Amino acid sequence: MSKETLSVTDDRNGKTYSLPIEKGTVRAMDLRQIKTGPDDFGIMSYDPAFMNTASCRSAVTFIDGDRGILRYRGYPIEELAEHCTFLEVAYLLLHGELPSPAELKDWVYEITHHTMLHENVKKFIDGFHYDAHPMGMLVSTLAALSTFYPESKNVLDARVRRQQILRLIGKVPTIAAYAYRHSLGLPYVYPDNELSYTENFMNMLWKKTELKYLSNRTLARALDVLFILHADHEQNCSANTMRCVGSSQADPYLAAAAAASALAGPLHGGANEEVLKMLAEIGTKENIPGYIKQVKEGKFKLMGFGHRVYKNYDPRAKILKRTAEEVFQVTGRNPKLDIAIELERIALEDEYFVKRKLYPNVDFYSGIIYQAMGFRPEMFTVMFAIPRMAGWLAQWEELLQDPEQKISRPRQVFTGKDVRHLEQARPATAAD
Ligand code: CMC
Repeated sequence: MSKETLSVTDDRNGKTYSLPIEKGTVRAMDLRQIKTGPDDFGIMSYDPAFMNTASCRSAVTFIDGDRGILRYRGYPIEELAEHCTFLEVAYLLLHGELPSPAELKDWVYEITHHTMLHENVKKFIDGFHYDAHPMGMLVSTLAALSTFYPESKNVLDARVRRQQILRLIGKVPTIAAYAYRHSLGLPYVYPDNELSYTENFMNMLWKKTELKYLSNRTLARALDVLFILHADHEQNCSANTMRCVGSSQADPYLAAAAAASALAGPLHGGANEEVLKMLAEIGTKENIPGYIKQVKEGKFKLMGFGHRVYKNYDPRAKILKRTAEEVFQVTGRNPKLDIAIELERIALEDEYFVKRKLYPNVDFYSGIIYQAMGFRPEMFTVMFAIPRMAGWLAQWEELLQDPEQKISRPRQVFTGKDVRHLEQARPATAAD
């Protein structure tokens, strides 16, 4: 049988070391023993942007980027999107198993009864300009919730953590809807406990003067599917931020605000907003080849394309393409879809994209659906953040229960000046 070790020879002194291999990894700390003498700090690994570093063990989400596979707790994303509700999937992510009917009933009840926001939050949101970006409003309001729930800082108490999990999953759609209504100058709508998670969100977004908001079933289901697809994606930039901030034992509102900030960037969740701007800029199918030419010249990136982990078609984008058609049956076809499909066709035949294994990612089609539902592009990343809260919290729970984890604190390779003294830069003068 082959040995599960890696032999390393230090050519500086000819010494050899045997490093254990576990689940295809060697421990970076095992490199520290490789030294040239007692004063040597030992070898470190250097990995900007974590291109090849596992920062944790995780049992939540599995991705095989080469084969285009995504599973939550072992279940293929396609099956979950077809047969589950978002709240069932959120339960699965957090608890490791799907809920029984009784567990689901309790879970839905608890989340539903944590959707209200303190009245002062309305005043807080009122302070934003009418044209404030909704991601800025979401991030700030999440952080502000920390001041309403000071007990949340007891992050090592499982009961306290559970309470904040219910609050965060329950309240994030309410914050998102308030931010949306604020930007339109509309009065805020309170949650309706008789509605499902997505129906209630639609109620808080779109209710006008009617006594009871009745949502379109196809659109409510499409939102559920979108939420399931966005719920978690293992150690992406925002999940890593949630873990990094959470590792200092900051409360989950502050950690979630930091995670949402990471999501806002155009290379991460902000890409869906950028895709719509890009499709608007391209304007017609005839302009696509010229646009692709500029991408290949390195002038800008094709937004909604490429992924650090997927080197195959993003399975979420496949499901979204189908969801888009269902939504358009209700809303009418978004003409941007035809440009997107043609853009995808041309890109996938182009040597530049083929060679680099660049395929459409989840952000390529989600914005087109959200726009057809009536959202402006600024809201798209907020729509991503709502379901991702479940994933962030599952990652945070796992972090806090992992005995191997400590405060997240990388090392550096120092490239600055060696010690120097002020008197060399500023020689003493007579006045001194
Ligand atoms: N358009 C054109 N070229 C690209 C693109 C793109 N969208 N993405 C990567 N490349 C090129 C890149 O220039 C590089 O080329 P070369 O080898 O000649 O230097 C090569 O492909 C490898 O790319 P990379 O930048 O090393 O890959 P990365 O893993 O660091 O970046 C990414 C991943 C998602 C940030 C990047 O693909 C990108 O910026 N895509 C556009 C933004 C986007 O759609 N983001 C959403 C990601 S999925 C959902 C989410 O995370 O929120």
